[in-house]
Amino acid sequence: MASVILGILLVLAPLPLSTEAQTRGNLTLGSSLTANDRNSSWLSPLGEFAFGFRRMGRGAHLLAIWFKKIEDKTIVWSANGDNLAPEGSKVQLTANGGLVLTDPRERELWSSGLNGTGLAYAAMLDTGNFILASASHVKLWDSFSRPTDTILPTQQLNLGAALTARYSEMNYSTGRFNFKLGYDGNLVFYVAPPQTVPTDAYWASDTVDSGFHLIFNQSGQVYLMDRNGTILNRITSELVPTSGYYQRAILEYNGVFIQYIHPKTANSSSGRLIGWSRVSVPVPENICRSIVQHLGSGACGFNSYCTLGDDLRPRCQCPPGYTPLDSANEMNGCIQDFVPQSCNGSRPETDQFVLREMLATDWPVSVYEQSSGQTEDWCREACLADCFCTAALFKNGNCWKKNYPLSNGRMGPWEDGKALIKVRIHDTTSKCTKNDQKKNKNTTLMIIGSVLLSCSVFVNLLLLITYLIYRSFRSRDSKLSPLVQINQVTGMRTFTYQELQEATYGFKEELGRGAFGTVYKGALGSEDADFVAVKVLATRTGESEKEFEREVSAISQTNHKNLVLLLGFCNEGQHRLLVYEFMSNGTLADFLFGASRPSWYRRTEIACDVARGLSYLHQDCTRHIIHCDIKPQNILLDDSLTAKISDLGLAKLLMANQTRTTTGVRGTRGYLAPEWFRNMPISSKVDVYSFGILLVELICCRKNYKPEVEIEAQIVLVDWACDCYHNRSVPKLVESDEEASSDIKRVRRFVMTALWCIQEDPALRPTMKKITQMLEGAVEVPIPPVPSSFMSSI
Ligand SMILES: *[C@@H]1O[C@H](CO)[C@@H](O)[C@H](O)[C@H]1NC(C)=O
Ligand SMILES: *[C@@H]1O[C@H](CO)[C@@H](O)[C@H](O)[C@H]1NC(C)=O
Ligand SMILES: *[C@@H]1O[C@H](CO)[C@@H](O)[C@H](O)[C@H]1NC(C)=O
Ligand SMILES: *[C@@H]1O[C@H](CO)[C@@H](O)[C@H](O)[C@H]1NC(C)=O
Ligand SMILES: *[C@@H]1O[C@H](CO)[C@@H](O)[C@H](O)[C@H]1NC(C)=O
Ligand SMILES: *[C@@H]1O[C@H](CO)[C@@H](O)[C@H](O)[C@H]1NC(C)=O
Ligand SMILES: *[C@@H]1O[C@H](CO)[C@@H](O)[C@H](O)[C@H]1NC(C)=O
Ligand SMILES: *[C@@H]1O[C@H](CO)[C@@H](O)[C@H](O)[C@H]1NC(C)=O
Repeated sequence: MASVILGILLVLAPLPLSTEAQTRGNLTLGSSLTANDRNSSWLSPLGEFAFGFRRMGRGAHLLAIWFKKIEDKTIVWSANGDNLAPEGSKVQLTANGGLVLTDPRERELWSSGLNGTGLAYAAMLDTGNFILASASHVKLWDSFSRPTDTILPTQQLNLGAALTARYSEMNYSTGRFNFKLGYDGNLVFYVAPPQTVPTDAYWASDTVDSGFHLIFNQSGQVYLMDRNGTILNRITSELVPTSGYYQRAILEYNGVFIQYIHPKTANSSSGRLIGWSRVSVPVPENICRSIVQHLGSGACGFNSYCTLGDDLRPRCQCPPGYTPLDSANEMNGCIQDFVPQSCNGSRPETDQFVLREMLATDWPVSVYEQSSGQTEDWCREACLADCFCTAALFKNGNCWKKNYPLSNGRMGPWEDGKALIKVRIHDTTSKCTKNDQKKNKNTTLMIIGSVLLSCSVFVNLLLLITYLIYRSFRSRDSKLSPLVQINQVTGMRTFTYQELQEATYGFKEELGRGAFGTVYKGALGSEDADFVAVKVLATRTGESEKEFEREVSAISQTNHKNLVLLLGFCNEGQHRLLVYEFMSNGTLADFLFGASRPSWYRRTEIACDVARGLSYLHQDCTRHIIHCDIKPQNILLDDSLTAKISDLGLAKLLMANQTRTTTGVRGTRGYLAPEWFRNMPISSKVDVYSFGILLVELICCRKNYKPEVEIEAQIVLVDWACDCYHNRSVPKLVESDEEASSDIKRVRRFVMTALWCIQEDPALRPTMKKITQMLEGAVEVPIPPVPSSFMSSI
């Protein structure tokens, strides 16, 4: 009851400083938590761990346990990674089912079950264990006995227990790697994606008939123990500093088991907070080498290769001529960037391909032919002439031909062969583009070209079939239909209005609304997995269809990790819509000015992200683009809170003739450079000005203009920041922010950079490239000049 009332209060009340409803200590039967945007959780007595819902994206919540006191809020256990809970779901402590997670329609998503009867209470403990117990303290269920991918000090795994890696760093659904203490006493690591038959172990403790418990003891050691208490096998053996540190050991999504520590109190003397650091050698030490699967792709996905990073964790990369199948997950393998070699004997295409060398690289399993006593030249020619040959390995006079898909790829000093990978000769000229749209365009043009040039109907048919197979292979995972329409002018996917209407369920879920139109959430394909954001453009200016498409094309040629990706568009009669990748964490405006203050570290990262994105737009991209409308509403955050700039080019597209009049720009007033109001030429420096305002907002975590502030000098934030800087009182700007206060040098550098950005004379403002360097600390920031009452002009 109490929690219900609290819940209602939280919904109705204006947001207080701390939005989390938190209960400590014992939980009685009937206690519940609801998944909504205001995170509520149950805390351990000292507040070390929390149990509750974590938002994984809009309307998708994970029931989890996490380290409560550290910045990362690292998750150590989760219940429903494969079946995220929608908004309004509830977890409740019930007498019969233990913990039961139900969606808003009361359908059960997960339940703990109970081993025994007489459930009396539940508790989140300071060890990280969540327990359900009877009145006489008999444990009826605990999270330590059902681990997901992480174990904690004091946790012990018994025979039959297993850890399962998650799908990717940020996606908690079931991944490919497992770790199991078998009933035979052997601890084995093996690869087994869901619904797949497990293959051989890639690491084993070799303790058959003797292993009994896997222990993570309080001194930070992980070892296997015999029945009689003898230590059989140390899994992680380094001496670990224990006091003052949090610890965890995890079977990572990439298949390695690693132990980490994290200081309990933030230490920002280096100016940068220290997160988790690795304290053990990964198990296995070299996963790239340990996994050799005859069925399956190996440590990485098909057609990719595995290398060990400096941190000894594996990385998956694509060979030349190949691109990732899924840019969000490097483990998913790669696909050919080109149309494969034709196998028509009278059209061998040998001259269309080259072999690229990759030293110390091999795909050991995909062999279909071996020749010995040969030269490298022979090997090259043999592979080029053979349309089945995807790559060849040459070593000591031996030539192995490999076919598609390549598996178990690895690169490292232990490989002594030379891989020769076959790629089609491309004549790509563009520098700025390297995304899917462009590739689609290339293949489309290639098909059209060959259709025009060739007079044989049969060749056309064959090419068309090859193309369709290729397309459908490409889109295997993106769930787009194989016959996607590609626009000839923009090289982008075009959608019909009806398709987008269906994708958004009739424009039902609104994500946001801005000067240019309204954005709706949608999903492409039959499953709701590939979310997109569909922007319905409101304004329709005089520009022709071709102009619209040319602009869209310009936008589509940008490709940078700090820019929101445009996936396609619809241009049908009155309807003009743009389809973007979906950003699960909403806008920077909501993040920054919302209820809880994001950490200083996160804010500095966002500032650098935005600066890099703008620097790319202004300088690195082939068509220099001025954004014209930089503000927190136009910066979106993805699931790892990386900031991406959205609405590029829309200002130009839609405000063409309106920008110069004050009525046209009222909406974004405050972020606009003085040039807009003064009939001065508009250059990329207008974005620099807007970025300056945004930067000050990021530093202070408040809106630039806040009329309700009592002290008049503080109503306009940039004025105040300027005063503080020149009065040598910068710390006042971040007074209530402990983390920023302890990093005051960087705060000062950011403030100085911002003051440079908002210089009235555009020529004085640095370029975004320079600003990026200033923020990163790569160059010294000169003393900014005193601005001449710039705000009075607005
Ligand atoms: C929780 O409940 C049990 C049994 O009722 C009791 O022994 C224990 O002291 C309680 N713990 C707290 C922190 O209230
Ligand atoms: C809820 O938790 C998530 C993940 O920890 C965080 O990103 C989000 O900002 C939190 N929401 C609120 C309203 O505190
Ligand atoms: C259930 O409890 C009994 C006795 O406490 C224990 O021996 C058994 O291993 C438990 N089973 C599970 C699945 O936890
Ligand atoms: C943890 O295990 C090590 C042996 O690996 C032992 O020396 C140490 O005393 C143990 N610590 C505790 C608290 O049991
Ligand atoms: C524990 O059992 C193993 C056999 O499983 C034996 O070799 C070892 O000597 C025993 N150690 C102790 C201390 O009893
Ligand atoms: C913080 O960092 C300083 C310098 O790197 C170091 O001397 C100090 O021991 C650290 N404190 C903690 C709690 O780690
Ligand atoms: C192979 O290509 C040649 C030349 O383009 C063409 O004449 C022939 O019909 C093709 N054969 C097959 C089986 O596709
Ligand atoms: C996690 O990955 C799985 C497998 O690809 C996918 O089905 C699921 O939608 C992903 N979850 C999130 C939250 O992205």
